[in-house]
Order: sequence, then structure tokens, then C-alpha cells
Amino acid sequence: MTSSPPLTTGASTEITTALPWGSRVNRRGHLEVGGCDLVEVAREFGTPAYVVAEDDLRGRARSFLSGLRARHSDCDVLFASKAFPCTPVLRAICQEGLSCDVASGGELTLALAAGFAPERIFLHGNAKSEAEVQLALAAGVGHVVLDSLHDMERVERTAASLDLNQNVLVRVNPDVSGDTHAAISTGQADSKFGFGSADARAAIDAVASSPHLRLVGLHCHIGSQLLHLDPFRRAVAALAALGDYPVYNLGGGLGVAYQRNQEPPAVEDYLATLVDTAHDLLGRNKRLLIEPGRALVANSTVTLYSVETVKRNVSTWVAVDGGMSDNLRPMLYGSRYEALLADRPLQAGERCHLAGKHCESGDVIIHDVQLPDPAPGDIVLTPATGAYGYAMANNYNGVPRPPVVFVRDGEARLVVRRETYADLMSRDV
Ligand code: LLP
Repeated sequence: MTSSPPLTTGASTEITTALPWGSRVNRRGHLEVGGCDLVEVAREFGTPAYVVAEDDLRGRARSFLSGLRARHSDCDVLFASKAFPCTPVLRAICQEGLSCDVASGGELTLALAAGFAPERIFLHGNAKSEAEVQLALAAGVGHVVLDSLHDMERVERTAASLDLNQNVLVRVNPDVSGDTHAAISTGQADSKFGFGSADARAAIDAVASSPHLRLVGLHCHIGSQLLHLDPFRRAVAALAALGDYPVYNLGGGLGVAYQRNQEPPAVEDYLATLVDTAHDLLGRNKRLLIEPGRALVANSTVTLYSVETVKRNVSTWVAVDGGMSDNLRPMLYGSRYEALLADRPLQAGERCHLAGKHCESGDVIIHDVQLPDPAPGDIVLTPATGAYGYAMANNYNGVPRPPVVFVRDGEARLVVRRETYADLMSRDV
């Protein structure tokens, strides 16, 4: 199996590896994703817009599933739905045969609406409410991942009231941290997530004595946007020290390329590392689960913006019609993106800052990006916005959230419409 783009003409790697598979420059010199000219997509659906290359989305889902199955037959891939909690995206991933991780009643509702069978849904969360647990158990979710003693008591109470014997995993904090932004590192000992190794034993004993909880195994998730594989090995070792269970969920966390020249581990190397380590330390007869979010969806999507103004003072400020309402990641984590102009993606440019439209100085999508003679009306795109872009979108400054457009084989179709100003008042009573 290979993770190299199955559809590319070669052009996408010349432009930037952060683009969806199969992206290319067409005869007009415009950037094309999913066979659709992005200038035309912007004209038809307006900007800002999230444009998802459906073949990329589905292809990566298949790569994870077939790659894991090729190495270990008793396995499953759960999509961490928080990365792109949007029913059409979930539906496509469900159709590719994956299972689903949800971390709230809302994500659970979306996953069920998208068609995931309840038994293929895993409920996570460090602060699940009584109502969320009730909703999940009544729906028949396959597994609940227990995060604390209070969480365990709540799940046990609800299972008892419904007279269930609920499958559960205990989330272990392995005290392993990878090299990532502090806000998205979860495996360090002092974390709000999971049971530390010492407390995990007591939690495991407590579950074992419950008539309404059935412990099937352990879970860990050490963090996100991890670009090295060694921490994953160390996390498996920490789980191995806690005994022998039928199921191990090794979480998500694989990093992606947001910019050219970034080289995250290939999916197959990541899977080989997890499976080989699991075989060595846990045994070959276990059920292995993983739950990628970012690595499944980030590179499937580009965000299209229109340039509204260009201002030259100390720097050149290119301001677009979106910003921190559709992509909070640069502001929250200092994440770096690339930008291209849709109608001249290969031209060299001048150094500028790509700014958003929101009323604060921190609303800069990219500092120090090169754009060729940008002017009002130009369509700018930022690649790799599929993970946690839509997910963390908001209405700051009363800006309606963007639509989601699927592109495939030269056809573009709206799957989530743009918010309207009326939507902004739809909850008023
Ligand atoms: N499993 C659990 C229990 C998680 O908490 C997460 C992510 C995942 C799986 C998926 O991790 P991934 O494969 O996407 O790294 N908003 C942040 C990311 C927060 C990640 C939260 N948990 C960002 O935009 O970078």
C-alpha cells in the first residue's frame, strides 16, 4: 500500500504537498481541486467557503482502514468526528466502512444522523453530562471510554437504570508527551484527561466489580499533530504495564503537512509502528483500534477567500472576507498555513500578511506569506483546513459561517449552505 496521491498529475506536488490529492493547475493556469476550477467554485458558491475534495477524503479513510487491516485483522478505525463534525463528511466516512468517536451529545447526534450504527460509536469526554450519558446508552453506543471516577459512577448509574451491561474502556494517561503545542498535548501526567497509571489500576478494579460495566480494554490518546512516532511506542509500553485486555484503543494524533516541505510520517509507517509495537508488547491476539481525526481530513479541504483590501504601511496587509471565524488555529496554536491565488498559483509573490476581517489585531491568518501582486477581488486559498476549521468556526463579528462544498470529477455540490443573517437570530426567543 502507498500513501502517495492516487490521482495526482504531479502538479500538486509542484504547487504544495498540502493540497488535496489530484489538485493541479489547469490550462487556464487556475488551480483545480477535484477537477473543479477554484475560481469558478468561488464564483458559484461565494466566499469564504470550505471546499472538500471527496476523493481525497474517501481515499484517506480507505488507506487507514486497509492499511491497518493488512497488518492486523482484528481491528477498526474510528473517525475522531471532532475534527470535522459535519454530517456529509461523516456520511462519506461511514460509507467507507469506518467507525466513529464522539465526544459530546451533539457529535453523537451527528454520527447517528450520518448513518453510523450505534454499536460502532465510541463515547468519549472528560466531563460527560448525565444527559449525554443517558442519550448515548439509550441509543446503544458500542463503547464508553471512562475518564474519571465521577464519570465511571455516572455511566454505571445510567447503565443500571437502563438495566444494561455497558462495554467500557478505561482511558489511561500514559505520562508520555509528544512534541506539539501545549494546548493539544494530552499524554503528560498533569492533564485533565484519563487516569494516571497509578489510578488506572483502582479504576480497573472498580469497573471489574460493577454488574453494569464490562471492561473490555484500555484507551490512550497522547496528543495531536504529532510528527514523530516514538511517543506512540512509549504510550503502548505504558498500557502494556497495566495488564492484559482484549481491546486496545491507541487514539489519534498523527500529524499532517500544513505547508510544503513538511514531512509527517507516512500513514503506513505510523500504522506499522503501532501494530509492530502492539504485537511485541500487548500480543498478537488483541483487537486494535485507532481514532485519527486530523490525518483523515485536514488535507482534503481548502478554504477559499476573496481579497477585500490591500494596504501598504510598514508591511503589506492583504485582508480577506473571513479569518478567525472560519479558522481559529493560527490564533490559538500559532499554526502556519500557506496561501495561493486561485488564478495564478505558480507566480512568485511579494511578502505580505494575510489578514482576516475581524476587529482585532490577532486576526491574521498567515504572517509573512508570498502573494503575487494581490488585489481586491482575487481569490485566495489556504490548503489543509479540513481538520478543526469548520469544527471551531464561530460567529465573531456576526459573520455567518461558510458553506461546505464537495468537489469530485469536475462537479461541485453544496452539502452545507452558508449561514444567513437570519440564522444569527434563529435562537432568539
Ligand atoms: N481521540 C481523542 C480522544 C482525542 O481527544 C482526539 C483529539 C483524537 C482522537 C483525534 O486526534 P487527531 O488525530 O485529530 O490528532 N483543535 C485542535 C486539535 C484538538 C484535538 C483534540 N482531540 C487543533 O485544531 O489542532
